[in-house]
Formats: sequence, structure tokens, C-alpha cells
Amino acid sequence: MVTWEDNYAIGVEAIDEQHKELFQISNRIYDLLKNDLITDKYDSIIEIIEELKNYTIYHFEAEEEYMKNIGYKKLLSQKVAHNDFLEKMEGIDLEQIDNGHNEYLLGILDFVCEWLVEHIIKEDRLIVG
Ligand SMILES: [Fe+2]
Repeated sequence: MVTWEDNYAIGVEAIDEQHKELFQISNRIYDLLKNDLITDKYDSIIEIIEELKNYTIYHFEAEEEYMKNIGYKKLLSQKVAHNDFLEKMEGIDLEQIDNGHNEYLLGILDFVCEWLVEHIIKEDRLIVG
């Protein structure tokens, strides 16, 4: 699980809401993974991973647009970080997930959530200065 903390807010409402949404989508995957009552949950998990990827693309575009509009100087390094992250997401082996390799999925989820928190507090919080 990844929990939103008030100090993750960067002070731009639209971006903060998008960050919260990314946490929520990720938590839906954690919830399903932990739920032992659903027998075949991996199709649903894969659907949510696709949703997470698409929402991440939408969010990065919106965030980059915002940085461009305010003339943010570190836009380029943000873009590099965003693209690296998207590449990592594209590299997720859905077959391993579909085959029920929970450890693999948990590793991916932990990576995604840790990256998001780190990126928000170390990079995104600098956007508004
Ligand atoms: Fe960012």
C-alpha cells in the first residue's frame, strides 16, 4: 500500500489530484493482490496495470505542459525521468503476472510506489519553488 501524506502536495491542485489518483490506482492493485477470495484475479490486475500506465502517460503530459507554461528550467531532466519510468512500466512482464507470480508483481508495485513518492518529494516539489 502507498499512503498519501500532506507533505507530498506540491501546491498545484491539478497535479496533486493526479498524484493522488496514481496512488489510488496502485492501491487497487495491492488490494486485489492481497485478496485471496478471488480465484482468478490476474486478468483484473493486468487491466488495472494498463490503466495505471495510461493514467501515468496522461499525468506526465499534463505535468510537462504545466512546467512548460511556467518556463520551468528543469523540464528536460523531468522529461528524462518520466520517460525512464514509462520505459520501466512498458517492460513489465504481464505473462509472469498472469501466471500468478506474486513476488514479481509485488516487486513491480513496490518499485512503482517508491519511485512515485521519491519523484514527487525530490523533483516535483521543486516545480513551484
Ligand atoms: Fe514529474
